[in-house]
Amino acid sequence: KEHIAEVASFTSTDTTEIENFRIKYLGQKGLLKEFFAAFKEVPNEDKKEFGQVVNTLKNTAQDKVNALKEAMESSAETAGVYGDLSRPGAPIEIGSRHPISLVKNKITQIFSRIGFNVSEGPEIEDDWHNFTALNLPEYHPARDMQDTFFIQTDPDVLLRTHTSSVQVRYMEDNQPPIRTISPGRVFRNEAISARAHCFFHQVEGLYVDKDVSFADLKQTLQYFTTEMFGKSKIRLRPSYFPFTEPSAEVDVYWGLETEIDHKITKGTGWLEIMGCGMVDPNVLKNCGIDPEIYSGFAFGMGIDRIAMLLHQVPDIRMLSENDIRFLEQFKSSF
Ligand code: PHE
Repeated sequence: KEHIAEVASFTSTDTTEIENFRIKYLGQKGLLKEFFAAFKEVPNEDKKEFGQVVNTLKNTAQDKVNALKEAMESSAETAGVYGDLSRPGAPIEIGSRHPISLVKNKITQIFSRIGFNVSEGPEIEDDWHNFTALNLPEYHPARDMQDTFFIQTDPDVLLRTHTSSVQVRYMEDNQPPIRTISPGRVFRNEAISARAHCFFHQVEGLYVDKDVSFADLKQTLQYFTTEMFGKSKIRLRPSYFPFTEPSAEVDVYWGLETEIDHKITKGTGWLEIMGCGMVDPNVLKNCGIDPEIYSGFAFGMGIDRIAMLLHQVPDIRMLSENDIRFLEQFKSSF
């Protein structure tokens, strides 16, 4: 009976120890052989109990040996597959954000701090949202400003040429006060070169409320360019867009030395970065907003151009070629 206790409490992960244990109990000259041999000499009245005890001992010993061997094999397998589990892991390659996303996120963050939300819309648009609602009726010559990709079979279906289409959708669905930023990809049928592509990215902004004035627009743009480019000078040049009146083009002064993100960048003078203006009353009316009560301003800028400026990218095509050597350079940015 003491043997049963000993067998039950035995444990080892060592092959030799386990083998010695097996030989001691279950071997040719092992204890169990001895006990079975001694069976004859046990008095008849004790035979039953003796037999039971010896059988239990045999089964316990056999089970023990099997269990220990199995445990050893599976831990050897684990070690083979995973190696030393206490070793530090191999470093994981972390990707980088695309420069377009970096700039887009920065722009939307700057405007979210003054109460603008983000709105999105479809890249495949209809004529109404991309042109007609924006005061650009059919045959209006200003449509030529934006060379458009049409779906051949249906002149009403096109790839949006600007995200002003999202602003139309937003005004149709929401009454003022409206403060919204619409980032997205846009398409124009242009020859591809280092400076132009047939698709690029925009962020457009819209603010509609009571008593919104041109002064509000100017101050908002000054706030934006300061946050985006650091202390900066801007100038507004009169311009024309069918959906705004008056309209202006915004230039930012890229001084000879500008500090951006602690880096000194060599500038080239005045640079055009966006279009803007007071929303034409016709556009408000087309979108179900009463121009007698409300006024608003809108602006739109190209993300690609700004990303190229900030990160000194010489060719717009690099932004869509997905060359890993290019993309890797943005790892430290976030
Ligand atoms: N939608 C114009 C463009 O794509 C930009 C713009 C937006 C101009 C809003 C004025 C007001 O060129």
